[in-house]
Amino acid sequence: MLPYFTEENSVETVNARMSEGANPRLVQVMSALVKHLHAFAKEIELSQSEWEVAIDFLTRTGQICSPERQEFILLSDTLGLSMLVDAINNRRPAGATENTVLGPFHVAGAPEREMGASICLDGKGESCLFEGRVLDLNGNPIEGARVDVWSDNAEGFYDVQQPDIQPKWNNRGIFTTGADGHYRFVGIKPVSYPIPDDGPVGQMLAHLGRHPYRPAHMHYIVTAPGYEKLVTHTFVGEDEYLDSDTVFGVKNTLIAPYERLQDGLAEWRSPFDFVLVQENTSAER
Ligand code: BEZ
Ligand code: FE
Repeated sequence: MLPYFTEENSVETVNARMSEGANPRLVQVMSALVKHLHAFAKEIELSQSEWEVAIDFLTRTGQICSPERQEFILLSDTLGLSMLVDAINNRRPAGATENTVLGPFHVAGAPEREMGASICLDGKGESCLFEGRVLDLNGNPIEGARVDVWSDNAEGFYDVQQPDIQPKWNNRGIFTTGADGHYRFVGIKPVSYPIPDDGPVGQMLAHLGRHPYRPAHMHYIVTAPGYEKLVTHTFVGEDEYLDSDTVFGVKNTLIAPYERLQDGLAEWRSPFDFVLVQENTSAER
């Protein structure tokens, strides 16, 4: 018979309960989770009332979740876990465009738009021409790449946050590259905005003296047959929140130029090339 549970043997006692036939990866994951969870409680000498606060916090985090709101992902984002998982799963060779966090505001099935078209449907904000190429690691253009883009509006809200105020698909669109690999669209110069902070995660940030803001960014998912999916943003340089993004999504290589345009299609121009990695090269890295 195995010994009864004690403070000293807690990890071994819990982990010994898993059956031999359990999925090996699940056993690996749960054993490590128990090990680190118990070490955490022991390190901080978790009090009964603190445990109750944590249970209440997690309960409220679950209760506020809905098809439109995923508070657990927001918790993961603000604790840096989402970016860590993203980094572990998207190690790329030098020269490839880096990934960053997807966020909760991507909507599948955005309209496919003509190259050069505007995605801004509410007429607000400073117009900006976004353009560049989708390339492979050797600098060759990729034809048929789908560039799925979305941003907040000039007031810092995504269309899905204001379904009764903004036109559907405002500041969203999908563009497909031709043989030259070029993409080009008109949007707005994005603005910084707070993540949804009227729930438990917002309360946590406030208790920790953390602000809820993300620096201004344009979101992209770039896909092409035979290449790894790229989920990323480009950031507006000089944004006051670049070095304190509440979800830790900023990377140096993702800060894009924003140039004033005197005449032409838009008030600003933000050029940026995306470099994709061929599928099945990850195993060699
Ligand atoms: C976003 O950039 O849309 C986002 C990312 C993580 C949490 C909230 C919003
Ligand atoms: Fe965003």
